[in-house]
Amino acid sequence: MQLTNNTILITGGTSGIGLALALEFKKRDNTVIICGRRQERLDEIAVKHPGIITHTCDVADEQQREELVQWLVTNYPDTNVLVNNAGIQLITDLTKPADLKRVRSEIETNLVAPIHLSSLLATHLSVKNGAAIINISSGLAFAPLAFMPVYCATKAAIHSVSLSLRHQLKDTHVKVFEIAPPAVDTELGHDRREDKNQSHGGMPVDEFITGAIDALQNDNYEAAIGQAGQLREKRELLFDMMNN
Ligand SMILES: NC(=O)c1ccc[n+]([C@@H]2O[C@H](COP(=O)([O-])OP(=O)(O)OC[C@H]3O[C@@H](n4cnc5c(N)ncnc54)[C@H](OP(=O)(O)O)[C@@H]3O)[C@@H](O)[C@H]2O)c1
Repeated sequence: MQLTNNTILITGGTSGIGLALALEFKKRDNTVIICGRRQERLDEIAVKHPGIITHTCDVADEQQREELVQWLVTNYPDTNVLVNNAGIQLITDLTKPADLKRVRSEIETNLVAPIHLSSLLATHLSVKNGAAIINISSGLAFAPLAFMPVYCATKAAIHSVSLSLRHQLKDTHVKVFEIAPPAVDTELGHDRREDKNQSHGGMPVDEFITGAIDALQNDNYEAAIGQAGQLREKRELLFDMMNN
């Protein structure tokens, strides 16, 4: 895909991969719009990075997703790229009765929101030059970490949805990408840590962004970055190694 002169909505742009992608796209002369729940983060980013457009939205809320799209097409009708990036990662012990509120919030954020937003914007995008939908899945889509079964299932489902969406949009100009990150050093999963600033480690965000941009530039529609590639190639073998 072309990497300049786009108008791009990135869900979950207040930290990690979403924020780094936003800054990279901004550097490349795109109009960049980010959304997230944390108003103070959005305000900080707007001040620190003039030109990045911010909008408060909880993508786990159906009505807020609809309002986001309405606001977007009204105020930024040139929008031609959607990045479904917002995500949460929770630990779920399936040997005990599951807290379905948590389970549903993870599925709503990681899976229902990308499905809904893609469907709400598909017609709009289909008449735009250089249009693309970029879904951020995970290496864990291919080989799950068993202590976070719902998270991994949502990512496996995003892989599947990306295949179907690409097929459904094949007669349009909308390119559908799936970028599967490996472990990347971000705030992901910080809700479950006592020190909220502590990361689970992994590939530096900048290195991941280099890989993701390379995939987008080369129309690599299903790009597993770094060790996510191995998880895709050797899923059964690595499942045992990862979980034992
Ligand atoms: N880091 C990794 O190791 C890794 C590996 C594979 C895949 N991924 C995927 O990469 C994507 C980005 O994660 P990250 O690593 O950059 O983590 P992160 O630093 O925690 O960023 C997550 C982003 O999602 C936003 N978000 C979460 N729930 C939201 C909601 N309900 N509504 C709107 N925004 C929401 C957060 O914003 P607010 O909190 O402000 O709402 C934040 O901007 C996720 O889909 C994740 O699953 C990450």
